[in-house]
Amino acid sequence: MISISWSDKFSIGVEIIDEQHKKLFQLINELNSNITGNSSKQILSSSLDALISYTEYHFREEEDYMFNVSYPRFEQHKAVHDNLKEQVINFKRKIQEGEDDPKQFLDFLYDWLTKHIMEQDKKIGKFMDLAVLRPIM
Ligand SMILES: [Fe+2]
Repeated sequence: MISISWSDKFSIGVEIIDEQHKKLFQLINELNSNITGNSSKQILSSSLDALISYTEYHFREEEDYMFNVSYPRFEQHKAVHDNLKEQVINFKRKIQEGEDDPKQFLDFLYDWLTKHIMEQDKKIGKFMDLAVLRPIM
């Protein structure tokens, strides 16, 4: 994986979520440079932990946001997050047991996240755009 940079194509138009996605990109890049730079096991594992815990934090925040704006696909979207969280737990266990490595996890998360933003999170932004036009009940 080469380092990823934020560009407007990833923006969903909801500032608080965009800012958190930027932070996720940054943590992915940090883990990537720790992997390619042959950092110590300790640094690698704290970089991995930082990425995992920020991902969990971000999901909670995004779910709160969707809930508060009565996003109609809330349940489906949360289920997608829950599924990813389960996969992350499995990855973490396998990495700890030496059956998998952080590089594989990083590639997986990078693909997952970019697709998720483009296909799922963008729908939240679209919903909010239309909400502006919706009459107040
Ligand atoms: Fe999401």
